[in-house]
Amino acid sequence: MHLLPIGLQLLALALLSLQSQYPFDRGTCNVSVDVDKYIRFERRVATAAIVANIGPQGAKARGVKAGVVVASPSKHEPDYFYSWTRDSSLVFKLLIDQHALYNDAILRQHIDNFIGAQAVIQNLASPSGGLFTGGLGEPKFNVDLTAFHGPWGRPQRDGPALRSTAMITYANWLIDNKNITHVQSTLWPLIKLDLDYVATNWNQTSFDLWEEVSSSSFFTAVVQHRALREGANLASKLQRVSYNYGKPADNILCFMQSFWNPSGPYMTANTGGDRSGIDLNTVLASIHTYDIAAGCDAITFQPCSDRAIANLFAYVKAFDMYKINDGVEDYFSTGRYPEDVYYGGNPWYLATFAVAEQLYDSLHVWNTEGFLQITPLSLPFFRQFDPTADPGCHFNTSRKFVTLTSRILEYADSYLLLAARYTPQDGALAEQYDRDTGTPVGARDLTWSYAAALTAFNARDGTGGKSWGAKGLIVPDVCRRGGGPSVKVSFNVFAKTVHGENIYITGSSTELTNWNPEDALILSPEYYPTWSITIDLPANSDIEYKYIRKHKGNVAWQSGLNNRMTTHTGGNATRSDTWWRSEF
Ligand code: NOJ
Ligand code: NOJ
Repeated sequence: MHLLPIGLQLLALALLSLQSQYPFDRGTCNVSVDVDKYIRFERRVATAAIVANIGPQGAKARGVKAGVVVASPSKHEPDYFYSWTRDSSLVFKLLIDQHALYNDAILRQHIDNFIGAQAVIQNLASPSGGLFTGGLGEPKFNVDLTAFHGPWGRPQRDGPALRSTAMITYANWLIDNKNITHVQSTLWPLIKLDLDYVATNWNQTSFDLWEEVSSSSFFTAVVQHRALREGANLASKLQRVSYNYGKPADNILCFMQSFWNPSGPYMTANTGGDRSGIDLNTVLASIHTYDIAAGCDAITFQPCSDRAIANLFAYVKAFDMYKINDGVEDYFSTGRYPEDVYYGGNPWYLATFAVAEQLYDSLHVWNTEGFLQITPLSLPFFRQFDPTADPGCHFNTSRKFVTLTSRILEYADSYLLLAARYTPQDGALAEQYDRDTGTPVGARDLTWSYAAALTAFNARDGTGGKSWGAKGLIVPDVCRRGGGPSVKVSFNVFAKTVHGENIYITGSSTELTNWNPEDALILSPEYYPTWSITIDLPANSDIEYKYIRKHKGNVAWQSGLNNRMTTHTGGNATRSDTWWRSEF
């Protein structure tokens, strides 16, 4: 090159650097080099592409109001030139996290614009209602900050939860940076509107995040649960003690457990919909409620929990029918759900990134905690990487831990390489890529696709998962869906027991575990020989119940007819029963 004139040298350099823009080098076997290249390249493209989709100055957001994010610049087939509360909130949650990491002043301006735009949106009267009459569940708006009046799948109740999570994250940053006044005056009032909506409406029917199924949805419940927990924490930081979000949060946590399908095993996406229930919905639920402090907790469905790992395994396997997955053994391109027919049913970029992200989050927890636990539930997932893997706890000093974590990292990276393979040369990310050919399909420059790329890259760096209060939660004894009136009933039974024997109760309502002796509620022997427990039961209902004894694995039921009672509104009650030992 030194023989060429300087101008030509520069040209050659420019050509070389253009060439090196293409991130995925098919010729090399060195996986990690390619992943790093792709991340460096796509991080830059994605960051710019997100900003291009935000008004008022975004290059692809002409005529869009300040702080409004378009889902995609595509105006027909499909027309995504609107602002969805879900997409916008997920995007701004990312930008708020980026801002906290890099303290970027330009981002700060976008964030403040976003807050301003949401304050307007919250107040719009829409087909879902007005501010206090359901309007917060409206899913999408015109880019000039007016309501959209066309027919749509509404309401979608994940929006207010995701929006408050984004705003709470920003509020916490402001508090840490000594700007509590701004939080009190500007952010809290908006956050409170969303949280109050979630607290009172979480148990109402809603369209799912794919805007198709009207029922209850796991993703929606999970993000609502998170919002209420961190909202309760913020309220107490601001000394707004009167807001009690803990109670509905407990009830949602309870409800979340009912989506688990043990015979899958996987988490079912919706209570309606007539499908298998295998759905990206659940993977997104896990990564968007990741809390580093909660370890691999299964009840909050943490990314590394045995439930979420088993769920990921079932989810990925459900997409072997895409032609582009032919000949691939275990890392399939994945879509929303196997039955999907939207645009013919294709893999989505944001789905591909989500699989990688769940695993990066998991690796981060395993490495931080210094061990990895395999249970019978998660075993099939781990056996893919080591056929000799067994249930048990593997410490980071063991060969097993090292082998498993390095292979899982490679596996997660292979998902980024899949995304890389189907990313066009210029780095643009559409919504989907074709199930047969891998070419981009659907809305171009989908803002959410770019955000999903960036959150996955951040997860690989281990910068995600700031704690929101998932740690140490327990599922309450009583799951209350209806929110109808309840009464407290104290059950006392005089029952002598031998050492090691305990008294339980079960009966004819959900609260009494529906006659299931395995889940029967244990009574306290505090006033032995009287055993007691106080339970919230629905008011105005006829209840039947029985006590059981459990001793060394044996279960004995109280003999004779069931005990019966009727509960009345406002009528807390006490039952005093006797169970003589004769039948044991
Ligand atoms: C059907 C798709 O499946 C859904 O996800 C989408 O939001 C609507 N059409 C509107 O484009
Ligand atoms: C269709 C997706 O199903 C939905 O989740 C999303 O909000 C809209 N497109 C806009 O991106």
